[in-house]
Amino acid sequence: MSRFRAVSQTILLDVSGAIPDPIAVQQAAEILRRGGLVAFPTETVYGLGANALDAAAVGRIFEAKGRPATNPIIVHTADAGQLTSVADLGALMRPRSPDDVKRLAERFWPGPFTLVLPKRDVVPDIVTAGGSTVAVRVPGHPVALALLKSVDVPLAAPSANRSMELSPTTAEHVLRGLGGRIDMILDAGPTTSGIESTVLDLTSDPPRILRPGLVTAAEIEAVIGPIARSEHALAGASGSVQKSPGMMAKHYAPRAHLELANDDGRSRVEELVGSGKRVGWLTWLHVADVAGAVRHTMPSNAVEYAARLYAVLHDLDDAGVDRIIVALPPDGEEWLAIGDRLRRAKS
Ligand code: TXA
Ligand code: MG
Repeated sequence: MSRFRAVSQTILLDVSGAIPDPIAVQQAAEILRRGGLVAFPTETVYGLGANALDAAAVGRIFEAKGRPATNPIIVHTADAGQLTSVADLGALMRPRSPDDVKRLAERFWPGPFTLVLPKRDVVPDIVTAGGSTVAVRVPGHPVALALLKSVDVPLAAPSANRSMELSPTTAEHVLRGLGGRIDMILDAGPTTSGIESTVLDLTSDPPRILRPGLVTAAEIEAVIGPIARSEHALAGASGSVQKSPGMMAKHYAPRAHLELANDDGRSRVEELVGSGKRVGWLTWLHVADVAGAVRHTMPSNAVEYAARLYAVLHDLDDAGVDRIIVALPPDGEEWLAIGDRLRRAKS
């Protein structure tokens, strides 16, 4: 099998080996240095990268995704040291201090955790949607880290999907959404965490979770003390720079209409199948089957569920179902991020 495929001008390179192929990584870095777009794997979802310090390059991300200009983008760095090239820790307001950042970085980076901090002037307005803060994370994926080291500039990288569509957890998902619109995709197989990073705003007092993820509020509080937990709040006035556009109600949505059941979903699935609908169903192992439904038995562990969620929703879109019924996830902090993504997918 060839390691190289070109699909209407998007080059797909296999970098799934144990050690990221240095030649492939160099090629990708060269494209990025010239202002191009490269999709790359992170541990959460595939990101669509551009040089974060090059406004024209970042503009291409917005074009390729069809992303509204009011939506700021996360900046990825190779390590916590590079953070200060884009964030001004001296501008943090008391009681927050650079020491908080240091401790959070030591605990959660590289990993699925993003910090919103005061920005430096070098970061173009297009990255931050004109705002005075910048979101930064060090991703926990060997290919992402190799690419960041090789290119040696911070990379602006939102999820590598068309705006309002499902985030990609495989290179194939990226290709379907953005093939022909971007220069290269680095393919390292399915991502392991499956849902986007936790976003913590350190510029508000108390610090606030803008988007829940697999790093939980309790884990953050163990490092910096009490934070606000507003994960259910939706963004304010549309058109303004939203505090966190990931909080737009409709986001992460499959094409089929998705309903969250208040039980295992079985009776609703039976009803819909009975009325002739093609139904996708996310449910649990112990629940009896319904003939005719496209069933996905989901893991009862939140981390494993998160890793599978988007891939399953992509599959159901491919299967062309009309409806997706999702069994209600359990309570508990580790399920918050999953409940959040499911609520957005249904609206
Ligand atoms: O896991 C992830 O975070 C993935 C991978 C690729 O790293 N990236 C990702 O990026 O999900 P994106 O652009 O799809 O989501 C960015 C999130 C949005 O919810 C946005 O509101 C928030 O980060 N964000 C970015 N910059 C911000 C800022 N300056 N202030 C507040 N929120 C910001
Ligand atoms: Mg996204």
